[in-house]
Amino acid sequence: MSLTLGFDIYGTLIDPHGVVDQLAQHLGDRANEFSRVWRQKQLEYTFRRGLMRRYVNFAVCTRNALDYTDLLMQTRLDDASKESLMQAYRVLPAYGDVKQSLQMLDDKGYRLFALSNGLADAVQQLLEHAEIDQYFEGVVSVDSLQTFKPNPDVYHHFVETTDSELEHCWLVSSNPFDVIGAVSIGMKAAWLKRSDEVVFDPCEFEPSVTINSLADLVTEIN
Ligand code: LAC
Repeated sequence: MSLTLGFDIYGTLIDPHGVVDQLAQHLGDRANEFSRVWRQKQLEYTFRRGLMRRYVNFAVCTRNALDYTDLLMQTRLDDASKESLMQAYRVLPAYGDVKQSLQMLDDKGYRLFALSNGLADAVQQLLEHAEIDQYFEGVVSVDSLQTFKPNPDVYHHFVETTDSELEHCWLVSSNPFDVIGAVSIGMKAAWLKRSDEVVFDPCEFEPSVTINSLADLVTEIN
């Protein structure tokens, strides 16, 4: 039975900090901090919206987080600058290890899907821009459920909508909360530890495997 792999997008295949160069034009050496706070707040808004059951889509969370970060850091970005940052977010780059790794997994005959908080159209656009869309059978978005990861419904929906068996499904994600969400419903999950500094949350659920590069995935799963 072939494996079904669900790839997280932002932080796993696509670099959410790919806007730093553009931010630096406005903010100089505060660009990295701005990008970090923006990303953290974006995720916090998804968690809060999920708990409140007040869904707005991921692009709205991203824009709200941009406005918050601008207020917090007193950077006074004008509307045109914010709009151009949101535009840059729609064409963020893929990490360097992505294309070759997807090719290897595709060669193995695995079924590859995107599994993202992002809207399906936005994710599809990112995959096309990074020239990796040809590896994917489809995009599974939380939008049809009107909630966010790590709601267990998201991972069950993935298994159902891809017509797979739970025991043959893997999530691949750099986001510990995502890995924990998948493992908690009985999926296997590979944690992609993209930097030495990141740590996994202390929790009763642990990754099935931990990898430092996407290229290691092909030898670590079966
Ligand atoms: C995603 C967020 C979690 O792509 O990064 O689903």
